[in-house]
Amino acid sequence: MQVLFVSSEVAPIIKTGGLADVSGALTSALQQMGVDIRVLLPGYSKVLKALPDLELVLDFSAHPPLGITELPPSRLLLGTLPGGVPVYVLDCPEMYLRGGGIYLDEHGIDWADNAQRFGLFSRVAAMLGSAESPLQWRPDVVHCNDWQSGLTPAYLHYMRDPAPCVMTVHNLAFQGVFPSALVPELGLPWDCFKPDGAEFYGDLSFLKAGLFYAQHITTVSPSYAKEIQTEALGFGLQGLLSHRSDSLTGILNGIDTEEWNPAADAYLAHAYSSEDMSGKAANKLALQKRMGLHEDAEIPLLGIVSRFAHQKGLDVVLEIAEKLIAMPAQLVLLGSGDTEMQRDVLALAHQHTGKIAAYVGFDESLSHLIEAGADIFLMPSRFEPCGLNQMYSQRYGTPPVVHATGGLIDTVVDCTPASLATGEASGFVFGKMDAASLLLAVRRALRLYQDKKSWFALQQICMNKDFGWGSSAKAYQQIYIDLIKR
Ligand code: ADP
Ligand code: GLC
Repeated sequence: MQVLFVSSEVAPIIKTGGLADVSGALTSALQQMGVDIRVLLPGYSKVLKALPDLELVLDFSAHPPLGITELPPSRLLLGTLPGGVPVYVLDCPEMYLRGGGIYLDEHGIDWADNAQRFGLFSRVAAMLGSAESPLQWRPDVVHCNDWQSGLTPAYLHYMRDPAPCVMTVHNLAFQGVFPSALVPELGLPWDCFKPDGAEFYGDLSFLKAGLFYAQHITTVSPSYAKEIQTEALGFGLQGLLSHRSDSLTGILNGIDTEEWNPAADAYLAHAYSSEDMSGKAANKLALQKRMGLHEDAEIPLLGIVSRFAHQKGLDVVLEIAEKLIAMPAQLVLLGSGDTEMQRDVLALAHQHTGKIAAYVGFDESLSHLIEAGADIFLMPSRFEPCGLNQMYSQRYGTPPVVHATGGLIDTVVDCTPASLATGEASGFVFGKMDAASLLLAVRRALRLYQDKKSWFALQQICMNKDFGWGSSAKAYQQIYIDLIKR
């Protein structure tokens, strides 16, 4: 079975969030199960630097994808990801080789040509999945991820001998909505620009196109699969999603248990495992030292690693930060995003030196050290398609406090005397998304933290849970099989 996995980011090469982690780990798991899976990735500068042995497979000046006439110089290269999965890189310097971020410029504004950048990306994916491909390797299934590859199923719909598509939604809040005037420029027929197609309230929606034209839709947790069919979390697409509910499956993300393993994590000050937890305390001290917090083994340390966005509920944490440190507790934050939030976080840390510490930016090593060194992890997301950090934190013996939404419900079991006794408890879940409920949940966590024996029992349950990709990768494989049979 041959599968083309189309993703705009893949860990450890290029990452802005969980999509990269999933793209890296899921493709690796599928390969180990015998699927001949290849990734398609845009040739950002980081990608070209990280994969020096790329070979030329196609020059698009000789084979313009889908009849594009005015294409800037572009080529298709082939290499191998560090985990061993083959990767096609779409090398188009004019589109992908620039400073700034992969979606945003250096001022945090969306690149003005994102429709063209990811339109071309989607188009090349469709070419590879159809009879137009000059390559010998032809996928039986094209697996698209988020809006950046959302147009692929639409292009394929109008092509000869198209492979069936799976469209995975990692976050419905990002849809790739652009002016309708771009339809011809992107090489789409006007025929697709209708409510039963790629049109979304008069604009062109990349994600809607994917959701409409893909043969199957998945999203990253069973709870989120239900939530996106409601007005509250459907972001305007709930009608289409509930109409397609027979073709919509929620498959819970797994985690890369090698990359996120406290017993062998190069980013940590000390390794530890559920059998020998002594190293966790050493990581806490290392974290306190690195971040300029008072070095104190006893005081509970609350950790956050997050995109700074409304989705993640950070504003609610900031609202109660002073109450949190009065409990007493320390707070460490790592993240970037919304500039106002970044400023607020830094101001708060400045005001409470030694008790609150923050690093604004993207730092892989610090994210691992926070998972290991914190006692409790906070993740009060307003909505969360799946979420990975709450799983990482459990694996690192750092029980999370989470809002009851999406994948957080599916991966964290609220700690009560009963759930602790049955060996199911794995964190603290609060129902209402407000400061009082979050505060109450943290209080519950801190109370249990004082009871060393119970806390240890909770950590043991967390660390011994299975978050591997095993059953989820099988579920994706089954979807591929069903599509091929059809
Ligand atoms: P989302 O994809 O919505 O941001 P997830 O929980 O699925 O949320 O995944 C986020 C991923 O990005 C995790 O691997 C997390 O550790 C990482 N991450 C987020 N912000 C940072 C940061 N500032 N520095 C390092 N890693 C980060
Ligand atoms: C998105 C979601 C997050 C999910 C990740 C990977 O970024 O916000 O909840 O874990 O994708 O699927």
